[in-house]
Amino acid sequence: MKTTTLKAVAASLGFLTVAAMPQGTMAAESPEQIIGRTCIACHSSEGDQQWSRISKQRKTPEGWLMTIARMQIMHGLQIEEDDRRTLVKYFADNQGLAPSETEGARYALERRLNTSESFESQQFTETCARCHSGARVKLQRRTSEEWEHLVHFHLGQWPTTEYQAMGRDREWLNLALNEMVPELAETLPWESDAWEEWQQRPAIEVVGDWTMAGHLPGRGAFHGRMVVSGTDSKDQFSINLTGEYADGTPIRGEGKAIVYTGYEWRANLEVDGDSMRQVFALKDDQLQGRMFYRDHDEVGADVVAARDGGEESRILALQPSYIKAGTEADIAIVGANLEGTPELSEGLELVEVLDQSDSLIRVRVKAEADQSGSKPVGVGSAASKGLVIYDKIAQVKVVPEFAVARVGGNGG
Ligand code: HEC
Ligand code: HEC
Repeated sequence: MKTTTLKAVAASLGFLTVAAMPQGTMAAESPEQIIGRTCIACHSSEGDQQWSRISKQRKTPEGWLMTIARMQIMHGLQIEEDDRRTLVKYFADNQGLAPSETEGARYALERRLNTSESFESQQFTETCARCHSGARVKLQRRTSEEWEHLVHFHLGQWPTTEYQAMGRDREWLNLALNEMVPELAETLPWESDAWEEWQQRPAIEVVGDWTMAGHLPGRGAFHGRMVVSGTDSKDQFSINLTGEYADGTPIRGEGKAIVYTGYEWRANLEVDGDSMRQVFALKDDQLQGRMFYRDHDEVGADVVAARDGGEESRILALQPSYIKAGTEADIAIVGANLEGTPELSEGLELVEVLDQSDSLIRVRVKAEADQSGSKPVGVGSAASKGLVIYDKIAQVKVVPEFAVARVGGNGG
């Protein structure tokens, strides 16, 4: 394989490139045919839509991308980018994870790469979460046999596993096979009620207008509208984003999104000249996750969005979410299907409603002088976490809490 190809494959690892996803109507070949043409040289067919080493594992779209890219890097698999995208979609939809099965490990998908992990199982931490993240493992489900194959693959591919720290002081292979495999098969099983139920669920509506609220470190709070329209291809959407930061600076963006597994929202956008990605999970007319710079994924916003016309009325954010005791401030209440006059708790006074729509209410609020703490704010049936009254700045927090240095980059 040429170095350039290797580099291209490595660069795409972990990043789903949404923009050029082939249009369903134009795809001449079915996923099964692509598998038959590209994978069968090494994997054998084991009946209807069953292939050796492929069919008894479930993972996220990123997990499938990582595996197929690994086939390219390590085993010399030749595959076109379009075909690879088709397969990632096919596997994520048919051998994916239910939303609840990703809970607690979404930081890896959302590329919160300086997360400091901690796991209850010391054995797991030392055996499996010392070279790569534990989340990589937690975001997979396999049969006992497949967990076992994975252990053998590790030792076969990296024989030094046994000689490294936390390998040479114990019988690594014995522990991995006889203690880790049963633990993994039990805690991360191939068959689960959550996945069974998820596959029977009705599809979640995505097309429509969404109200979005977020906070980008260095820029502050923002809110906006995201218009999602359907395309010729199922599960692919175009997005138009308009909004503003708290200081009034406008935000404009456009892009494309794909929904994997019925809820894994991945989008590529151009936002004010910068390439950004969205990694969200869809749940009950709500999208939640992180939107980050493509080339600087350490910088990103926590985002929550709700669809207009959903059943519920909700407050997504108060911007700003704090007010100094004894002063007046303008607060934006961002939400969906908001109806009614804002209700403030004791200690806060509603001076004036400046303007009001279903998704945004601007209010002038006064905080009493001798008050402090978090004060709930409501609009109709929607409640929010609370507007915090403060008297002085108590501390300045620098985020992220942990810095991570990496070897590489800089052309090296
Ligand atoms: C040139 C040979 C070759 C081709 C072509 C190939 N694979 Fe593999 N595949 C392997 C080998 C060898 C293993 C076992 C070692 C490993 O996991 O890397 C494997 C393992 C796997 C696994 C299990 C990985 C795990 O984490 O346990 C999956 C899934 C997989 N391949 C999918 C595919 C798909 C999908 C294709 C076609 C798009 C494909 N492979 C094409 C050689 C190949
Ligand atoms: C010696 C370091 C090391 C240890 C220890 C280790 N891994 Fe890995 N693991 C790797 C490397 C390297 C890769 C593949 C390269 C890559 O893509 O990052 C990998 C890949 C994986 C994958 C992705 C495979 C796929 O294609 O889906 C999973 C899942 C995984 N490891 C689970 C485990 C489990 C479970 C354990 C404990 C039994 C473990 N790892 C211990 C180094 C390690």
